Amino acid sequence: MTDSAQNNPSQQDLDDDLFSVAPRHPDSRLESDWLFLYEKLPPDQWFSADYAYKTSGWLKVHTNIRKRQRILTQISDAYMSGEFDWTEYRSQILKRINMHVLKLHQHHGVEDEGFFPEFVSMYPKLAPAFEILGHDHEYLNELLDTLQAQNDQLARSDTEDKALAKELHDTLVAITDLLQQHLTDEEDLVIPILGLRQS
Ligand SMILES: [Fe+2]
Ligand SMILES: [Fe+2]
Repeated sequence: MTDSAQNNPSQQDLDDDLFSVAPRHPDSRLESDWLFLYEKLPPDQWFSADYAYKTSGWLKVHTNIRKRQRILTQISDAYMSGEFDWTEYRSQILKRINMHVLKLHQHHGVEDEGFFPEFVSMYPKLAPAFEILGHDHEYLNELLDTLQAQNDQLARSDTEDKALAKELHDTLVAITDLLQQHLTDEEDLVIPILGLRQS
């Protein structure tokens, strides 16, 4: 890059700045009217010293959810590709799914019953946004019920059942897709609330 390019922002840079308030997920459901806090506290500031002590707890929980979800998918992929045999696949995935389902239910419960109503009372204008996130939880709970039922069946299946493994894999993929959208939209909405509140 030349000196002049460094010192003089290009038209592209200026355009990027203009659109920098867009939510991060490409298929975000968040409407521009709900982004007034996100504009004040965009993601590049979430970990700065002024805010990290208020925002990092929530983000860390989400990081752990994404990590557990990724590991489950990797184990399932390893079985589907032949890297893991039936015994290895079951020994790796059974307990992890039980733990993941439990932790996700706990997480959604705390949000639905505690945090989300509190945030709506602070910012009534955001009620429709939190309604979307609440519906995500309902859909996620359905998928988690399916995953748990498939996992319970897997626990009883000493004999290899490829069809069951494929069904479980498809459920994991659906959960990954929903979580990616849900967690990202939730962070764009919630992290600025946490960072900007006085407590
Ligand atoms: Fe959530
Ligand atoms: Fe969450």
